[in-house]
Amino acid sequence: MTEDFMPLDGWDHVELWVGNAKQAAFYYEQAFGFHRTAYAGPETGVRDRASYVLEQNEIRLVVTSAIRSDSEIGRHAFDHGDGVKDIALRVPDAKVAFREAVARGADCIVEPHVVKDDFGEVELATIATYGDVVHTFVDRSGYEGAYLPGYVAQETAKDADDGVGLLAIDHIVGNVELGRMDHWVGFYEQVFGMTEMIHFSDDDISTEYSALMSKVMTDGRGKVKFPINEPAEGKRKSQIDEYLEFNEGPGAQHVAMQSSNIVKTVEALQRRGVGFLTTPDAYYEDTPERVGEIDESWDDLRRLKILADRDDDGYLLQIFTKTAQDRPTLFFEVIERHGARGFGDGNFKALFEAIEREQALRGNL
Ligand code: FE2
Repeated sequence: MTEDFMPLDGWDHVELWVGNAKQAAFYYEQAFGFHRTAYAGPETGVRDRASYVLEQNEIRLVVTSAIRSDSEIGRHAFDHGDGVKDIALRVPDAKVAFREAVARGADCIVEPHVVKDDFGEVELATIATYGDVVHTFVDRSGYEGAYLPGYVAQETAKDADDGVGLLAIDHIVGNVELGRMDHWVGFYEQVFGMTEMIHFSDDDISTEYSALMSKVMTDGRGKVKFPINEPAEGKRKSQIDEYLEFNEGPGAQHVAMQSSNIVKTVEALQRRGVGFLTTPDAYYEDTPERVGEIDESWDDLRRLKILADRDDDGYLLQIFTKTAQDRPTLFFEVIERHGARGFGDGNFKALFEAIEREQALRGNL
């Protein structure tokens, strides 16, 4: 076996660039059960932006907005709407990761640099990926502060139940233009040494109206999974085309987060006002037979519109939120895995029919 030139220790954080970080932070706290742990902005000596760090178990989101018009953050929010800017990955050595990536063809965004404060130091370096999205390599092994130097720790009151039971990021999906999927698959193979674990053609993932193709890339340790979608020819506009139109280019389509009790998590999210895609009752007529025995009650899954699928290794349960902003772009997935390593391809058809009902309501189908 060849040496893994790009060892990844997992997800470090996902940074969203948004129009109004104060309100976005409130939304992710109140609706999704995140806790605010750190802040940087004018009050802490940062002059051009405000950033809120939000955590739930192993998941760390950062929401950032500009506070003046002359800002790449403001321009990004204007061009793309609220969305994912940085899928940051934890590495043992950010300088080495950056050098390996750039030597293999990645574009440099920020050279390796060390940031320090009284709690220690963090090494960071950033490369480009699809659209305006970037990957920052983070080595925080020498740091004991809340998040990064420049941020002050900030603790909101924790709920008694400690969030809604979202545990860790499972995968983050990128949407790219027609004909570009294989380019980005090649990028993750070459630059990260990732391998393709699974792919879906438009035969698997097509409905009467729209279709897509998808390949899933994973790192050597299996900690990070990046499905890449491109639109496929359909009778009407694909949901991927709709994303590309409203995001004005490629970007992150959804962030999937794991739960170990999806029924409780979805109930809590619904109580807090998170909207989910609905699934026709008819879906549950043949699903128990397709998926076989599961630990959960089918009544609960039907009531909450949770989807189920099985592969060779086990089964999984999943559900998708409505988009998290007015543009039909970024949304979230909650997933509970019982052995299954797939992404619910047996559900794709049911999912896309549900997404298309929403798309039709917006007049974009
Ligand atoms: Fe997903």
